[in-house]
Amino acid sequence: MQDKLNAIEKAALESLESVKDQAALDAWRVAHVGRSSPLMQVFAELGKLSKEERPVVGQAANKVKVALEAALAERTEAVKAAALAKALEEEQLDVTLPGRTVNVGHLHPSTQQLRRVLAILADMGFQVYTSREVETDEMNFQMLNFPPHHPAREMQDSFYVEAGERGDNPILMRTHTSPGQIRAMREYAATNPSDPPAIRIALPGMCFRYEQVTTRSEMQFNQVEGLVVGKGITFADLKGTIADFAQRMFGQGARTRFRASYFPFTEPSAEVDAECFVCGGKGCQVCKNSGWLEILGCGMVHPVVLQNGGYDPTIYSGFAWGMGPERQLMLRYKINDIRYFWGNDVRFLSQF
Ligand code: DAH
Repeated sequence: MQDKLNAIEKAALESLESVKDQAALDAWRVAHVGRSSPLMQVFAELGKLSKEERPVVGQAANKVKVALEAALAERTEAVKAAALAKALEEEQLDVTLPGRTVNVGHLHPSTQQLRRVLAILADMGFQVYTSREVETDEMNFQMLNFPPHHPAREMQDSFYVEAGERGDNPILMRTHTSPGQIRAMREYAATNPSDPPAIRIALPGMCFRYEQVTTRSEMQFNQVEGLVVGKGITFADLKGTIADFAQRMFGQGARTRFRASYFPFTEPSAEVDAECFVCGGKGCQVCKNSGWLEILGCGMVHPVVLQNGGYDPTIYSGFAWGMGPERQLMLRYKINDIRYFWGNDVRFLSQF
């Protein structure tokens, strides 16, 4: 019987050596220490033995059982350790791999420029006044001293939203930010009609024109309008304000010059050039060898416009201007095609 037990133990331990995973461990347990294993068979047949033999064989069989169970426990640990080592090997994290960058969007260049302009104007004491994009002919033209059928309207061909029944006052997309002047003046004047308060505001926003889209003209673009109204405001205030703005925008040394011009809503009117910041005034491709770049239109608010806004032109005077952030960006970065701004090409936009 002892030989038989030795053989059982030897066979079991030998077969345990080839066990490499959990499934094989389970199978080995069933085969060698399970209920119908040869070893358990010995226990089952103890009853058939004589009284003397029974404890001897029982003890010997128990020794084998303890040995096999110990071997199984040891093997189980080894299998687990091997599985863990394998997993660590395969799932290794390579911390030297370059990371994947996350694409973060940013403000549109026009918005960035709009904010630069407004930040400078805020430092100079201007408040932001936003006005509507959909306007009436009355506000966009008539109140600004463009009479019906006036040829100056041809400077700004319009997109009409609703014409037909509205006769002389069709609804249109504003062609400039200037109608905001009338709305702002009326709002301020309404707070104290007998002695309206002074005004110092910047009016930013999108404008729309029914124009052939070319490298130089778009059917939509931003403007920043400026309006100052008060008692004793002169052309010198206009010049000083614009010159100060140009230095803050284009650099301390930036010079400006005023050229006489015409707008229906200002008298006198002027266009302002800044000294070319690309060549410093020497003449280059960007300024077309003139040394100067046109940056805005401006003038003293026309008496009729003041009147329309609720400000008595015999008491009040004021100045206004209109400038284009996209135009400023084109000059600054030598962008030769305005269509890039609304072309939504990230290769263009991501440069800003
Ligand atoms: N509204 C004019 C335009 O769009 C720009 C302009 C010129 C605005 C002179 C003004 C101004 O306020 O005084 O062409």
